[in-house]
Amino acid sequence: MSTIYIHWAYCLSKCHYCDFNSVSCNKDLDYRVWFYAYKRILQFYRKKFYKNEPIISIYFGGGTPSLLPSWFIASILDEINNTFNLDTNVEITLEANPKTIDKIKATELRSAGINRLSVGVQSIIDSDLKMLGRTHTAQEAKDCVFEMAEIFDNLSIDVIYNRPGQNLQRWKQELEEVLQYPISHISLYELIVEPNTKLKAMIDAGMLPRPDSSSEFFEATIKTARGHGFEMYEVSNFAKNKHYGKHNISYWRYEDYYGIGAGAHSRCTVNGHKVAIAQVSDNEKWLKWAMETENPALDEEVLTEDDEFKERLIMGLRSKFGIKLDIISERIKAKYGLENKLKKLRANSYIIHKGDDVVLTDEGIMKLNLIVRYLTEKCV
Ligand SMILES: C[S@@+](CC[C@H](N)C(=O)[O-])C[C@H]1O[C@@H](n2cnc3c(N)ncnc32)[C@H](O)[C@@H]1O
Ligand code: SF4
Repeated sequence: MSTIYIHWAYCLSKCHYCDFNSVSCNKDLDYRVWFYAYKRILQFYRKKFYKNEPIISIYFGGGTPSLLPSWFIASILDEINNTFNLDTNVEITLEANPKTIDKIKATELRSAGINRLSVGVQSIIDSDLKMLGRTHTAQEAKDCVFEMAEIFDNLSIDVIYNRPGQNLQRWKQELEEVLQYPISHISLYELIVEPNTKLKAMIDAGMLPRPDSSSEFFEATIKTARGHGFEMYEVSNFAKNKHYGKHNISYWRYEDYYGIGAGAHSRCTVNGHKVAIAQVSDNEKWLKWAMETENPALDEEVLTEDDEFKERLIMGLRSKFGIKLDIISERIKAKYGLENKLKKLRANSYIIHKGDDVVLTDEGIMKLNLIVRYLTEKCV
């Protein structure tokens, strides 16, 4: 099983906190040329890496892929459908910014095959949306979610917490409100103040208070979400009635993914080894690369067994599905003293064993970064 990720690295404008590979776009694009470029690279990956395994998820992320015309999305999906082996229950997600989608477009996208929508709400407080550099109001975000719920059963929203100056009580109220929206899934991200962002500059200049990364916000978030019937199945992801996002689960299980678009990453298994591939991140350069070369050169790196182990651990421990111990070689287990370390973590109730899987408890999730660091330190 594997997944396909299509990255669209343009946005209406750049949000103050965002460090994703995306830039604002104020020019007309020739979408036919862009489509041709995506088609070429998709087919290049299919020939070079694809082993005819079922594709369980296709994800249009960004940037803002809801800026793309519906025919573009439909044509990409046709292209994938004609040449890859899609699972009968394939999940096809598109990330949408509330400013870039309405009911007409959503209906077109639904007909094109999109069966899951993820709307960037971020906050429902107007002053905070402004501080974050969002171009929509709280009412616009709310209206968008309610309209999209008429078209998509599988609807997710993104919200950011621990924002500068946010108070815990007000966050709980805000969260209570969004949890009552007609959604099946919610991603609740703790704000990361990324270097080289406008938000970081504003904080450094003393224009905004520096958020304190405290466990209080995380604990309240988990409790409130659970209280409204949302299960935490990953550090930042909560699902109602088991509407887990297949795409992310696949990442956390360390399955292969084919990432296409400026700055997209892939992990492909070649001769039993994971190969990490990164595509050039500048939009114009990516387009040139995709259009001009007969056999596009790729930035490929064959991961060592140690790299694979670390990635598998970092990804796996985030989710309630955990990591499979039987996949890890005896050499790596000995090198990192895994048996002893896991014993200690279990004694402190940070992990539990579910059959052959190791899963973090709530106490463990609170200390995720420390635990990952501990487990990935070599012993010999
Ligand atoms: C590609 S964007 C989603 C779709 C669309 N571009 C939008 O913003 O409406 C992915 C999500 O990552 C989250 N995110 C981005 N930068 C973040 C940061 N610095 N800290 C926490 N969450 C962040 C936001 O919630 C955002 O919706
Ligand atoms: S959060 Fe979304 S809309 Fe804002 S800059 Fe990042 S990718 Fe673009």
